[in-house]
Amino acid sequence: MSGETKAPEGPDFAAGVAISAIPEGGFLSGRVGDEPVILFRRGGDVMAVAATCTHYGGPLAEGLVVGDTVRCPWHHACFSLRTGEDLRPPAHTPVASWEVVREGERVRVGAKKAAPPARPAPSAPPDSVVIVGAGAAGLVAALTLRREGYAGAVTLIGAEPPVDRPNLSKDYLAGKAPEEWIPLRPPEFYAEQRIELASGVAATRLDVAGRRVVLADGRSIPYGALLLATGAEPVRLDVPGSSLPHVHYLRTLADSRAIIAGARGARRAVVAGSSFIGLEAAAALRERGLEVHVVSRDARPLERILGPEVGDLVRTIHEEHGVVFHFAESAASIDAKGVTLTGGATLPADLVVVGIGVRPRTELAERAGLRVDRGILVDAFLETSAPGVFAAGDAARYPDPRTGAPVRIEHWVVAERQGQAAARNVIGRREPFRAVPFFWSQHYDAVLNYVGHAERWDATELDGSLASREFRLTYKADGVARAVLTMSRDRDSLAAEAAMEA
Ligand SMILES: Cc1cc2nc3c(=O)[nH]c(=O)nc-3n(C[C@H](O)[C@H](O)[C@H](O)COP(=O)(O)OP(=O)(O)OC[C@H]3O[C@@H](n4cnc5c(N)ncnc54)[C@H](O)[C@@H]3O)c2cc1C
Ligand code: FES
Repeated sequence: MSGETKAPEGPDFAAGVAISAIPEGGFLSGRVGDEPVILFRRGGDVMAVAATCTHYGGPLAEGLVVGDTVRCPWHHACFSLRTGEDLRPPAHTPVASWEVVREGERVRVGAKKAAPPARPAPSAPPDSVVIVGAGAAGLVAALTLRREGYAGAVTLIGAEPPVDRPNLSKDYLAGKAPEEWIPLRPPEFYAEQRIELASGVAATRLDVAGRRVVLADGRSIPYGALLLATGAEPVRLDVPGSSLPHVHYLRTLADSRAIIAGARGARRAVVAGSSFIGLEAAAALRERGLEVHVVSRDARPLERILGPEVGDLVRTIHEEHGVVFHFAESAASIDAKGVTLTGGATLPADLVVVGIGVRPRTELAERAGLRVDRGILVDAFLETSAPGVFAAGDAARYPDPRTGAPVRIEHWVVAERQGQAAARNVIGRREPFRAVPFFWSQHYDAVLNYVGHAERWDATELDGSLASREFRLTYKADGVARAVLTMSRDRDSLAAEAAMEA
């Protein structure tokens, strides 16, 4: 996340620029007053929007234009170049956009446009919508309902308020992002949008026949349509000592705060598991100056998902930062002083972080009799086996539009885009979920971007080199590109996403 505010540079677009100064099909960066602005030109058609993404401030001029939209190079948010509307998460706020006035061979940026209006109200919407789970999918679903012109009651039930979860294992955990960056919206926002946020309370039972959700505090909330966005929870380590107070998991803001508090007095940490979250936690703890050992059952990190070459690269990046790996090992027991491994060695540790995977939170759905099989089963419209009940995010298993096989994906952007699609379907828009999966993962200053989904592949194609840490690696199955991993090649990642959509 960028916390810097630089004085904008370049021409003052309010004073006007020659059309020929704007590259055809490209951007010219400049300013309007103190605001950095970019102009995009296609023939004589010129559009003006703010230069930085409303997610983490990515430079939109380095993104990819598709039709009348621009996609952010960092995490693939998508904005309308005509209205500034945030069309796709992970951004959920429009960028500013301006009128452009043609004056002969010059253009001048005029008044700022009003925020894009909500869409026309749906014709036969449910009288109320209840969303269980106030995470990535749940929040975006609530925002989308209002954006889509839905005027009925919206209740968002969450054991915790919506937080920027990816940050919990990155800059926030490393001590480089303040806590005020973590809530996705300020408390007053929910009242302004007429979203009833029932926070700090769990839903304990669904009554599908009676169309009600029962909460732990005894309330019973009726719904016209229901969205289950209950996410996933960490798999627990089941060895002697694994419930000692210095053993932590990482899913919630409370978890991240507890690790930070534990790290303050600690010198040595053991991370059990070389998952993305385990490795990001290892990086953050190294940045806090702790000695970090990672214990992994595998031969190298992330091999199953990214292959052996990238696994070795990720290992090297962490070793360069002082992480010590113990492969083909797992924790056999934990005590106050350290972690004893299955191979017999003991690693001294005053802090233990367990990152050995997650499992979808499906209990509510299961007990209500919905179809569940390694996730809440949904159709292409994200509707479960019970009409009027939808599911989205880490908890949902949906048909992959490219292969037809059911998949469950644990990515922030996928959860948010499913929340968006599910909300539209809740109010009857009938929009199949077709987004190409995307995730990013950060290890010190190295960022991996991955588009697509390859559970298996039989060939890879490399452009660039892993050693230089600037590459595009395509994973193919039966000659078809199923996924593309990039490092320092953001536009390649965007282009791969657009190609897979086509
Ligand atoms: C530390 C961390 C870092 C991550 N980093 C990345 C990253 O860099 N890139 C990436 O692509 N993905 C990342 N992910 C994965 C990403 O955060 C998840 O895929 C995403 O949050 C899933 O969204 P969701 O809405 O399905 O679930 P969540 O965001 O987990 O939200 C579900 C919410 O539902 C609540 N809930 C569950 N059951 C109930 C109930 N019965 N009653 C009330 N509330 C309930 C939970 O408390 C939770 O708040 C990360 C995950 C973690 C934990
Ligand atoms: S900074 Fe633009 S999508 Fe994240």
